[in-house]
Amino acid sequence: MNQNRICYLLGIRYPVVQAPMNWVSGAALAAAVSEAGGMGTLGPNAGAKTIEPDPEKTAETMREQIKKVRSLTDKPFAVNVVVGFGEDVKYSQKIVEVLTEEKVPAAIVSVGRPDTYTETLKNAGIKVMHAISTARHAQKAQQAGVDAVICEGYEAGGHKGFTELTTFVLTPLVADAVDIPVVTGGGIGDARGVLAALALGADGIYMGSRFMATQESDSHDNVKQAVVRAKDACTISLDKQFMIARDLNNTFADQFRQMRKSGASAEELGKYLDEHGQYHAQHLGRADDAEICCGQVAGMINDTPPAGELLGSIIADLENRFAELEKQVRQITGST
Ligand SMILES: Cc1cc2nc3c(=O)[nH]c(=O)nc-3n(C[C@H](O)[C@H](O)[C@H](O)COP(=O)(O)O)c2cc1C
Repeated sequence: MNQNRICYLLGIRYPVVQAPMNWVSGAALAAAVSEAGGMGTLGPNAGAKTIEPDPEKTAETMREQIKKVRSLTDKPFAVNVVVGFGEDVKYSQKIVEVLTEEKVPAAIVSVGRPDTYTETLKNAGIKVMHAISTARHAQKAQQAGVDAVICEGYEAGGHKGFTELTTFVLTPLVADAVDIPVVTGGGIGDARGVLAALALGADGIYMGSRFMATQESDSHDNVKQAVVRAKDACTISLDKQFMIARDLNNTFADQFRQMRKSGASAEELGKYLDEHGQYHAQHLGRADDAEICCGQVAGMINDTPPAGELLGSIIADLENRFAELEKQVRQITGST
């Protein structure tokens, strides 16, 4: 095949997938990325104005967002399915119903077993990509029949398991472990990261935090500015008992760590998260005393460009960066 495997699978121009982000990646961002040749993705709470406890209403808001993306672009896009555990599965069941009815082009499935929805989604003609953080899970996803796996390295913003494998180690492990296409992310924000990911064996690139700081993202402007202001080692990994979260290191994160240290009960932690969760930062703009999921790459983000312009500049920079790399390799190997 004379085409990149992710571009071929998804029918897109550039193998760059905008990762789903709770309260952040709505129709405007997804459509802008897809229109620019990448793969835009709708995340949980896309288009929502309040925290909605009713799974039915949550799913209908997602249906509206799907229609909105379709009104903005005729290019392929994806929708996130956060499988969830226990009671939370009722949300993903409803979302999957909407996805199959709407026959969306692709689904990015995370936080749950790959065999839960793969068959249902694929029977509806939907391409399925499953997010993993170990090579063993990548193999399980392949066995379950997914079309591609997505590596989420330890650098990545948001919630994940306790495995701590970095993008640098996880990507080649997974590329060696499976035959299906591999998308990788966690720490990628420019053309250097894209080249590195390809060198590690990935077919495609997964970028979340970098797209959070763009014009079309639904992130509150206070949050976008906090990401731009963040420098160097600006995120922290929080132990949320059932998962870890990589967040911007702010007063919320400090307070949460103090509570964990002093042995706060699950109930107290839950109450604190309810009152200082992502909705409060991303929607209400409380950028210091509420949770901002964010990757280590924040330290490299200095602006909030339009998403399509960002993607275009990364792609445009690839040739130059590659030429520099080639020169270095030739210097090392002595070939001309
Ligand atoms: C603000 C934010 C919210 C996120 N929410 C979700 C989510 O709802 N579902 C999900 O599968 N991943 C979520 N993630 C993880 C991303 O999809 C992706 O794995 C991550 O952003 C990639 O690493 P990067 O941030 O270094 O680009 C979130 C990440 C961020 C930054």
